[in-house]
Amino acid sequence: MEKKDMIYEGKAKKVYATDDPTEVIVSYKDDATALDGLKRGSIAGKGVVNNKMSNYLMQILEKHGVPTHFVKELSDRETLVKRVSIVPLEVIIRNISAGSFSKKYGVEEGIVFESPTIEFSYKNDELHDPLINEYHALALKLATKEEIDTIKSMAFKVNEVLKEYFINLGIKLVDFKLEFGRLPDGKIVLADEISPDTCRFWDAKTNEKLDKDRFRRDMGGVEEAYQEMMRRVFGK
Ligand code: TMP
Ligand code: ASP
Repeated sequence: MEKKDMIYEGKAKKVYATDDPTEVIVSYKDDATALDGLKRGSIAGKGVVNNKMSNYLMQILEKHGVPTHFVKELSDRETLVKRVSIVPLEVIIRNISAGSFSKKYGVEEGIVFESPTIEFSYKNDELHDPLINEYHALALKLATKEEIDTIKSMAFKVNEVLKEYFINLGIKLVDFKLEFGRLPDGKIVLADEISPDTCRFWDAKTNEKLDKDRFRRDMGGVEEAYQEMMRRVFGK
């Protein structure tokens, strides 16, 4: 698989074309941004953790019937994935109150919900990823009704599988963000990444934060948190 031109550079990843038009190579960086790009920095080793963890979780999800973009891990930081057109929605599932939910609704962090919540943001940097509902997404033609229904049921399925997986590692899956893509035939697959950048992970006993909130909130121990998640998942 030959790596060709870089076709996209995001905040945390680069994407390269390959000699196969249906596949691209994702390369994970250590760069980190937060607070809508206002805060910038680097988290040593993050790219490796996010690449390996995301690939591992996507393979678990595939086994549970959730189709993903994953094809093959190429190295510590690089993965071959199916080329998709990204549905411009950030899909956020929450099991426990935290972050923007707590802020918006004026409640403390740590309230365990009876049922998970789902929300969508319109992926648009200029507009700062505004919160939108299904009807807005349809009006803006960001996705069809069928696609939104598929995305919702896949997102809740991902939550069931990952919540169970992480609790067995002594980790509460507080909330997370997913992105979905369309294959050339229109099929919806899980894309982007699942990592401490895109999930909140709390230690089940101590509630210690083991995710990017340590960076967002200047808590220190950022690299250590990523490495601890790596240890929990891979046992080393
Ligand atoms: P929030 O509480 O800030 O809305 O974040 C909810 C979850 O989504 C949290 O696990 C972090 C993740 N997230 C991203 O992956 N990217 C983003 O740009 C934002 C705002 C949140
Ligand atoms: N706002 C997002 C976060 O806090 C990422 C970003 O702004 O780049 O993770």
